[in-house]
Amino acid sequence: MGFGPFTSVDDVKARLADVGYLASDAVATTVYLAATLGKPLLVEGPAGVGKTELSRAVAEASEAELVRLQCYEGVDEARALYEWNHAKQLLRITAGRDESWDEARTDIFSEEFLLPRPLLTAIRNEHPTVLLIDETDKADVEIEGLLLEVLGDFQVTVPELGTIVAKQRPFVVLTSNATRELSEALRRRCLFLHIGFPEAELEERIVRLKVPELDATLTGSVVRVVNALR
Ligand SMILES: Nc1ncnc2c1ncn2[C@@H]1O[C@H](COP(=O)(O)OP(=O)(O)O)[C@@H](O)[C@H]1O
Ligand SMILES: [Mg+2]
Repeated sequence: MGFGPFTSVDDVKARLADVGYLASDAVATTVYLAATLGKPLLVEGPAGVGKTELSRAVAEASEAELVRLQCYEGVDEARALYEWNHAKQLLRITAGRDESWDEARTDIFSEEFLLPRPLLTAIRNEHPTVLLIDETDKADVEIEGLLLEVLGDFQVTVPELGTIVAKQRPFVVLTSNATRELSEALRRRCLFLHIGFPEAELEERIVRLKVPELDATLTGSVVRVVNALR
């Protein structure tokens, strides 16, 4: 049920630091719990606090593949789950002009003509996978029904192909800038993590990690100024 090689909260911290992510106690604890319990992690907070980066770091730290669904207004099942490659299907039908419709039909609704999108890709992946559903609040509410379904049993039914069950459960990270509340049902399914702006000390360490050539006094001043502006 659990995910990843994490043996303790400190282990999460150390592994994330190894791949360039400095986690606060709250972040490391929640990641550890979500991974151990096999629950999706819902990360909320303002832009730039490291929500997206956290899932990249978790994937790298656990040698998992990162599969990303970027949400936007209008993202739908065809973009999130799968769709059929209509152009290729048409070509196939045209090429096999002499055969019966039944023959053509069985052929064009097969694996070769399927375009898997991130949710299906993550479910079918044989390798350990981190599924990032990024900026979930930008998608329309309707997509949450689909997410609930997929996160509920980690299986997808493609009517023409049958039911595809996950070989391994991906570690799911949903992020949100909280431009709107996600549905109660979706929130209930997840462990919730709020990342706020970092404490000055953590922020200094992040800046030093990202811009090591910057002189220490200047780093301190930059962090103080940015904090004052917030
Ligand atoms: N705790 C952290 N440790 C290391 N880098 C961080 C941390 N938090 C944020 N960053 C850096 O800040 C930048 C913005 O992070 P990002 O994940 O894109 O923010 P968000 O998705 O919350 O808007 C990235 O370059 C990331 O590397
Ligand atoms: Mg982001």
